[in-house]
Amino acid sequence: MVLFDIVEGLPQGKTLDIAEASPVDNFDATLTGANDYADIKGADIVIVTAGLPRKPGMSRDDLIATNAKIMQSVSEGIKQYAPNSFVIVISNPLDAMVTLCQKITEFPSSRVMGMAGVLDSARFAAFIAWELGVSVKDVNAMVLGGHGDTMVPIIRYANVNGVPVMELIERKYNGDKAKAKEVMAALVKRTQGAGGEVVGLLKTGSAFYSPASSAIAMAEAILRDQKRLLPVCALLNGEFGVKGYYVGVPCVLGANGIEKIVEFSLDAEEQAMFDNSVAAVKELVDSMK
Ligand code: 2OP
Repeated sequence: MVLFDIVEGLPQGKTLDIAEASPVDNFDATLTGANDYADIKGADIVIVTAGLPRKPGMSRDDLIATNAKIMQSVSEGIKQYAPNSFVIVISNPLDAMVTLCQKITEFPSSRVMGMAGVLDSARFAAFIAWELGVSVKDVNAMVLGGHGDTMVPIIRYANVNGVPVMELIERKYNGDKAKAKEVMAALVKRTQGAGGEVVGLLKTGSAFYSPASSAIAMAEAILRDQKRLLPVCALLNGEFGVKGYYVGVPCVLGANGIEKIVEFSLDAEEQAMFDNSVAAVKELVDSMK
């Protein structure tokens, strides 16, 4: 595993620190820190986190000008030294940065994807589990759309081991449907602003651990050909009525990267939220032209 950064010493120090934990954590991986793109030569997967994080009060979109420049050189490095790799972009604003990465690398879209939905869904699932007092392991929840404040948590299919979440919330509040709706609206709002909530607390950075775990789940699905169905920021070619834009949708991830984009019908409310989110992605991406 190679950790790359332009700052000299930083990736070397990080990898040495991680490698020194290997006897305790029982792994034999070879870790290298690098400041030269040549060192990523032949990588199977490249996970891109390069770019500035937000400061409190900023939206992900405020990072576009600075991070587009960074993404340009990163993508060129990947294209030159890891031409057969799968690329998982995490950099923000996600939907725009993954678009740029695919344009510059010219890799097939099955090999260039964004990590957002796994993280946003994990956040939604965590908030549901905490509300209901159940294990996060049993909560299934999916968030689609762009990785911004307009993202679309799919309430209708959220469940705890098959039991609909809305029914569980209603029962918790003694059948008070209005109260249950209000509680769910708060969970949705918290999910949509969850990245910013962490930024507001850290003040000098954005989330580290949950984005990392989410990207690793995607990398494992590809490297181990797991055929997992995960929300992935994928280039759409007519699916969900969108063509030529990267948007978060359910995909099957396996040895060929994005092996399938899985469509399902949205109800009127979900469709309106999805359309709104796609419009925000389009505006952002088109602003780079
Ligand atoms: C987040 O939502 C970094 O975009 C990432 O925390």
